[in-house]
Amino acid sequence: MRQIAFITFLLLVFASLFFYFNRCTDQEAIDAIQATPLDIDQTQAASTLATTANIYQKRCQPCHGTHGQLSALSKSDIINTWSATKIEQALLHYKHGKRDAKGMGSMMHGQAEQLSDEEIKALANYIATLSI
Ligand code: HEC
Repeated sequence: MRQIAFITFLLLVFASLFFYFNRCTDQEAIDAIQATPLDIDQTQAASTLATTANIYQKRCQPCHGTHGQLSALSKSDIINTWSATKIEQALLHYKHGKRDAKGMGSMMHGQAEQLSDEEIKALANYIATLSI
């Protein structure tokens, strides 16, 4: 009887030691993840890009094509071959009613006046990357 009690006691001791040395050792990894700051800039850049792509798809793509590869209403130049600066300048000029390249300037004025200067800059950068 005492032997059984002794063996049970030993088993308990070994079990305790086993659990003690095998306890969660991932704590360091968890600490490291928690210590890593969120990269706010990257998150913002990604959301600006998503917003810009969304604006392009909703307001520009129907005429200028998925990749800016179409001559809009068979009038405009193919804008994905233009530099970002050239696109931005054209859009700013449309916005302020100062551009009418193919007789449809007032229509593009209607498009551009809905955009902030920041959105125009982002759109211009975006369109310049669309060429395939
Ligand atoms: C309803 C069709 C239509 C939509 C929508 C439209 N465009 Fe245009 N776009 C045109 C036409 C037509 C022209 C030529 C305007 C002119 O006579 O100067 C043009 C011209 C341009 C030009 C200058 C190209 C050139 O030939 O001078 C740029 C850049 C441009 N559009 C960008 C955009 C962007 C960015 C959007 C979305 C915010 C947009 N367009 C929406 C039809 C459209």
